[in-house]
Amino acid sequence: MNRTVFELGFGKTEDEIQVDRLPIQGKFPDWLLGSLIRNGPGTFHIGDETYRHWFDAPAMLHKFTFEDGVVGYANKFLDTQSYRASMQQGQIVYPEFATNPQWSFLERVKNVYAPKITDSAKVNVAKIGPNYMALAETPIQVTFDPDNLDTTGTFSYEENLNGQMTTVHPHFDPTRNLTYNLVTRFHQTSHYRIYQLKNGQNPKMITNIPVNKPAYMHSFGMSENYFILTEFPLVVNSLALMFWLKPYIENYQWKPSKGTRVTVIDRRSGEIVFRIKTDPFFAFHHVNAFEKGDELIVDIDAYTDASIIQNFYLDKLAMPNSGLAFGKLRRYRIDMKAKRISYETLSEACVELPVFDVSRYQNSGDYRFIYAVSINENQRSGFYNQIVKVDIQGKADAYWYQPGCYPGEPVFVGRPGRQAEDDGVILSVVLDENAQSSFLLALDAGSFLELGRAKIPQPVLFGYHGAFFDNRPSETGA
Ligand SMILES: [Fe+2]
Repeated sequence: MNRTVFELGFGKTEDEIQVDRLPIQGKFPDWLLGSLIRNGPGTFHIGDETYRHWFDAPAMLHKFTFEDGVVGYANKFLDTQSYRASMQQGQIVYPEFATNPQWSFLERVKNVYAPKITDSAKVNVAKIGPNYMALAETPIQVTFDPDNLDTTGTFSYEENLNGQMTTVHPHFDPTRNLTYNLVTRFHQTSHYRIYQLKNGQNPKMITNIPVNKPAYMHSFGMSENYFILTEFPLVVNSLALMFWLKPYIENYQWKPSKGTRVTVIDRRSGEIVFRIKTDPFFAFHHVNAFEKGDELIVDIDAYTDASIIQNFYLDKLAMPNSGLAFGKLRRYRIDMKAKRISYETLSEACVELPVFDVSRYQNSGDYRFIYAVSINENQRSGFYNQIVKVDIQGKADAYWYQPGCYPGEPVFVGRPGRQAEDDGVILSVVLDENAQSSFLLALDAGSFLELGRAKIPQPVLFGYHGAFFDNRPSETGA
């Protein structure tokens, strides 16, 4: 990508600020009441050192508040051990996804026996039980105060569930106040564990599946009655992780000959009900899953291989001709009776960070719209530069694109009392190359036309996930 965009999107955030009223061009809907909280990297530079990959770096929260068409903004680093240590020592102290600190031999040996596990929970946010949490793939999750973004505590999967890695995409059962997530326990024989939390507490293991070489899984699927584990052939020998010779993700190897194994698990009993292999592919994100007769239907944002992880190294992104592998929406149909699996491609658009109206259409075969970041066919070098709305049923896509603009994950907020699925707004933080700053974009989710933009007085680094928390009690976002 060009130098300006790279330095704006993968640089450092200079200030933690709070603005009560951002200047707005256009209009934000009066009915929008609540806050959008986003998570992502706060700086890629520590002292003279630079992180290596988009998925490294300390966490920064960004909060947008909405009331009567007024938009407020605040940003703050998550106050974690790893962030404090880095700031105090002026160097990278904790290992991240694709960066290890510059350890001496002795430090490396020490880390085998007493590993430093990062608490930089930078990937997602969710309200789990009463707690607002910053979510990480590493086992330490961080709670924060949604009013002032102060860090308030931690929750350790290792202590509570004996697992070392987890997904940042828990599933929710709001009617029973349950949260589900997947953790992986690395050992000579490793295990996948799905657990549930009741009102954010009392972790209970539902299933414990042994695995020889665990796969890297960023999410998993859930339908009305089943969990779906999709084991892509990006796998690790667990013993290699113990010695920290390479950064975490570089211990994983792409083994396409293994194919992709799909495991269907009964949500209530935890028993495996079905296992089937299919061709190799890779994905970060499951989208939605639902059941129809004997069929289990799983929508996934799929890549033909795992090269997208390589694409996100900063030295690759900094190259003028950098490009990203295209993720595409696939609908997998698993016929549990005939023991068959097949897929169709739902759209030819490049899709990443996909969202849909989870609050109303989770596990519903009627859902129609998926919103995501995408790449414009005529501007393929660089980074995600448009937002796409995929109409699964109509097979037509709509786009928001402006030259020099790089939008982040689109978050859908439905208008209270809506009938139509796409009656609402899309909120996305957009990096504006020409203004050398960012703005929060509001799109009409139905027409996909711009309603307004609120200008942030600084650039926001390219982030990952966020959530809208509605102030109306019956419309809680998660
Ligand atoms: Fe994700």
